[in-house]
Amino acid sequence: MDRRWFLRSAAGIGAGAVAGAAALREMVNPTAAVADSALAAVEGAPLPPPPVALDPGNIPYWLQVRNSFPVRRDPLYVNNGGLGPSPYESIHMLKRMIDQQELECSTLHSGVLWNSVKEKAGRCLGCDADEIAYTRNATEGINIIANGLPLKEGDEVITTTHEHVGNTIAWVARQKRDGIVIKTFTPSMESAEENIKRMKALITKRTRAFNVTHVSTVGQLMPVNEIGKLAAKHGIYYFVDGAQAPGMMPVDVRAIGCHAYATSGHKWLLGPKGTGLLYVRKDTLDEMDAKFVGAYSATGKFSMTTGEYHLIDSAQRYEYGTVNAPLFAGLGASMEFLLRIGLDNVWAHNHALARAFMDGLTEIGARIITPLHPDEHSSMITFKLDGVTQAHLSKVLRQEAKLVIRGIYEGGFDAIRISFHAYNNFDDVEQVLAGVRTAKATG
Ligand SMILES: Cc1ncc(COP(=O)(O)O)c(C=O)c1O
Repeated sequence: MDRRWFLRSAAGIGAGAVAGAAALREMVNPTAAVADSALAAVEGAPLPPPPVALDPGNIPYWLQVRNSFPVRRDPLYVNNGGLGPSPYESIHMLKRMIDQQELECSTLHSGVLWNSVKEKAGRCLGCDADEIAYTRNATEGINIIANGLPLKEGDEVITTTHEHVGNTIAWVARQKRDGIVIKTFTPSMESAEENIKRMKALITKRTRAFNVTHVSTVGQLMPVNEIGKLAAKHGIYYFVDGAQAPGMMPVDVRAIGCHAYATSGHKWLLGPKGTGLLYVRKDTLDEMDAKFVGAYSATGKFSMTTGEYHLIDSAQRYEYGTVNAPLFAGLGASMEFLLRIGLDNVWAHNHALARAFMDGLTEIGARIITPLHPDEHSSMITFKLDGVTQAHLSKVLRQEAKLVIRGIYEGGFDAIRISFHAYNNFDDVEQVLAGVRTAKATG
């Protein structure tokens, strides 16, 4: 191993690693031109499996991970919560499948492809392949649940004030159409226990469903397992919006205890854009009506005279008609890529970058909105600079520090969110912090 890499890995992670990041910039952050040629050289080469006991300080391996993506240095992409870039392996799979599709003029809708990709999805979510339905995005999964739940006028759904618009409108539409009642609480950023208390306080005899987000838009990791226990105790249907979790970390829907869980394929799972996954627990399929149905959702046995039809006995009942198979083949390659690194390794890496970033923000005196407790934050961090306008902070980060970032307005916040995923590194953390320092000095 190159001695410089060895020293860097041996130095470990945390504050020391970040302090040393500037010195390493030359080494790990070559100019855009050099980076581009390096990327061209490795493009197409599959990422090797990691060494045993991979740690977040293993710079050479994480650089190989970064070089597996067409991400640029300028601007630097730190907005995975918006959209995830796909690794070359996935892009190549997508392109190959599109070529094959056009050559054959075939739907490519095969049981083998469907099941092999769903088996990988099951490993990312902690469920069986036949509990997964393909969707176009997390919002479609949310709509399937919000519209499929048998709710009557006056039935209550408990949710939070920090939901993404995608997990809001479908429920509001149901409120308008069917008169359900949406009850909200504002999540505490200080304590998971407090959040359980706030949910408990809203439960009544009419509570039919919980609707919470696994990782919220501001990067809060909700106590989803404890919420699952509360739901089970009261016999309440439990839906989780997981748009921001699978791929960032290992997810175990059984441990969460939810009935359904929707996610995007194009965020942390790094899949082609326009992909999503919906988990519906096998023994609850019949509780969740399939409102949109057609070929693939039902068996061939149906009658227009008697009204008889039979939904198939898996979550595929929520799919219908021709689906863009190359997109899902690409998603399969992205999940395979993440599973090869190991979702535990990805999570340790992402979390370490987030911790280093939070330490740096604290030193600068920024106000961190995402919970500080290590068990309650994800690798998306939302913050503000008191005394500096949002417009100035945003402008400096985008134009001077050359970052792709997202503003956060959900829940009444006016703040900036930075996301770190497998292709980011400690140098990226330093580049963002340098931008925040500049904004503070000039704001
Ligand atoms: C928490 C949350 N839920 C839902 C969505 C919607 O995801 P999609 O665009 O895949 O429907 C997002 C997107 O950012 C999100 O952050």
